[in-house]
Order: sequence, then structure tokens, then C-alpha cells
Amino acid sequence: MVSTRRQFLKGTVAGSGLASLNLASIKSHAAFTAATETGLKDLYAKDFKIGTAISGANMRAADPKFMGLIAKEFNAITMENNMKWERLNPEQGKWDWEIPDKFMAFGASQNMYILGHVLVWHSQVPDWVFKNAKGKDINARKLKARMVDHIEQLAGRYKGKISAWDVLNEAVDEGNGWRKSPWFNIIGPKFVDLAFNTAHEIDPNAHLIYNDYNMHNPDKRDFVVKMVRDLKKRGVPIQGIGMQGHVALDYPSIKELEDSIKAFAAEGMRVHITELDVDVLPAAWDHIGAEISTNFEYSDQLNPYTKGLPAEIEAKLASRYSDLFKLFLKYRDDIERVTFWGTGDKESWKNDFPVRGRTNYPLLFDREYKRKPCYDAVAALKK
Ligand code: GLA
Repeated sequence: MVSTRRQFLKGTVAGSGLASLNLASIKSHAAFTAATETGLKDLYAKDFKIGTAISGANMRAADPKFMGLIAKEFNAITMENNMKWERLNPEQGKWDWEIPDKFMAFGASQNMYILGHVLVWHSQVPDWVFKNAKGKDINARKLKARMVDHIEQLAGRYKGKISAWDVLNEAVDEGNGWRKSPWFNIIGPKFVDLAFNTAHEIDPNAHLIYNDYNMHNPDKRDFVVKMVRDLKKRGVPIQGIGMQGHVALDYPSIKELEDSIKAFAAEGMRVHITELDVDVLPAAWDHIGAEISTNFEYSDQLNPYTKGLPAEIEAKLASRYSDLFKLFLKYRDDIERVTFWGTGDKESWKNDFPVRGRTNYPLLFDREYKRKPCYDAVAALKK
């Protein structure tokens, strides 16, 4: 196992390998001045797209100031939750298109790269999908039909308008091969072929992605590489790999991330950094990932920065973001897009995961949507 373990409550957040940045010099940098007038998407226009995830609440409110910020800073958008099965199709025959339709209209109005998230996943799927009225698993034939119908409804509705689909999310269980999800248990590994083939049939021009967390893990990386080779051998369409990018200040290493970017690119895949955020809080677990069913009990020790982020941690965060973007720039030819999982710290899922009710600072904008020093560090890389 390679660095999948973290020490519980390390106290300080070690900045392993992170050159410490002088924030004052970044602020005075010419790029900072430019970035106050333009957005990150403009600074990185020649490198890759810069994206964000939009929550249902923000999309519903559509506050002009917020939407203006999104339009200025980003050229790619993902729906955080409202295209997921449990939100979109909570009961058989009941579909809620209001927010996704709004999101699509906004993306089209700004000519954005629109991500569809997500067609097939084991989480945030209502029970009725996998079970009959008696609570027993339905059979493979029925489940395949449900998958196909779901893809037809969702990808079909937005055919020609979605730039890329996260076709399949999190089908690999770290070093244990296929995740034993209901999809896998009921249909077997060929559910993967069915998902990609169906998505391609419904929307032949959409770019199709496999998306997962902890993609730096060598076991997972190898398994995904093999999966891609097998899919290609069988003629199953797949063009991209999504590395979610839920990282921490000192974990994983840049080298581990780099090895995975290289490995996926070597298979002819476009690489997408799909859900970037940097957790600055003490680690609450040994095993890090984004399996969203995991939760830990709250304690004040695990929530040390309720009154603001100490300057030392703020600098480490800027330094970490700088190192990450240096890596992404090095592979700008292979990377299609870097998407943050949210815009302002207030809205981040990291305030409630893996411990509920904490104050986290994982994104480039603060709780009032002001640019943070880590924003300036990312901007400063593009003179
Ligand atoms: C996973 C999913 C996302 C989101 C994040 C946490 O990474 O792909 O849709 O649920 O977890 O918010």
C-alpha cells in the first residue's frame, strides 16, 4: 500500500515537498493585477479549461453576482448533485428537470464546456432502482433495462448539448478490483460496457469519461489502465479519465498524481481533474478517499479553524495549489480540464465530510466569494 494511511490528528499539517510561497510577492506580481480584471479561465485559456461545480441551491437562486463570478472565472461547469439519480428520478416515473434545465441554459448562454455528472454510480441512487417491492434485488435483465432507460432519458434530453459525460463513477475498489456495487453484483463487470455503449449510442458526439477518487493509488491506477485497454479491445467507446482530486495539504504526493496522469495519457485518454479541493483540516481517518457513506464523529480538535485560517496554513494552502497547478501545466497537452468541486469555501462539501459541521477552506474563494491567496498563487503561474 502506498501512502493510503494518514496519522490521526497530526497536529501540524506537514508541507512535505512544498516550497513555501511568499504571499506578498505573489500579490504584487503582474499576473495578480491581470487576474483582478480577467478570470482564471482567461489566464489558462491556452492550457486547459477551468471548471466549477454548481449546487442546486445556487442554481435555483441564480443570484446575478454569483452567476457573474462563475461566468468570469470559469469556462466549464458541472452540476454538483442535481443530475444524480436520487435528485433527478427519485421515484419511478418522477423526474425533476427544473434545476438541470436551468443549468444547461446557463452553460449554453456562456458557451461553456458542460459536464454531465453522472450516468451510472452506486451512490445517491434510490433503492427502487436495484430492488423490487419486497426489497429483493431485481434481476440482471431488469437492471440493464433501468440503466438503459435512465441514460436514454438523461443523455437523450441533452443530446448534442453536453460536452462530456461522467458515464461511470467509482466502479473500482482501491486494491480490491471491481467495487462490489449493486451494478456489479447484479449484472457483473459487463455493466461497464453497457454504460459506455449506451451513452455513445444516445449522444455520439459527447466525450465519455470514467471518473474516480484516489486515482493516484498505484493499484487503482493499474486496474483502471487495464480496464481502459480491455474496453478499447472490445471496441467500447471511452475517451477520458477523471481524477477527482479531493486532496489534502500533504496528501497525495505530486509524484503519485503525476504517475497517474502519465499512465492514463499513455493509453490515449484525455485526463480530467474533475473534483479538485484541498482539505486543510486534521485528518479524521486512516483511509482517505471520497466514499461518501463514510462519516466520523465531530470533535473540537478536528475543527481547529472556526475563527479563520492561520496565516501559516493559508500559505501552505497557496503553496499546495501552486504545486498542483505546476503539475497540471506540465501536462497541459494531456489535460482537458481542471474543475474545482465548488467555488466558495462556504458551499464546499468538505465542511461536512468526513466529519459534519466543521469549518474548512478547500477552495480558491472565501466565504464571501473573495479571492484567497491560493487563488493568487494559481493566477501567478500564468504571467
Ligand atoms: C464524489 C462524486 C461527486 C460528489 C463528491 C463529494 O466525488 O463524484 O458527485 O458527490 O463525491 O461531494
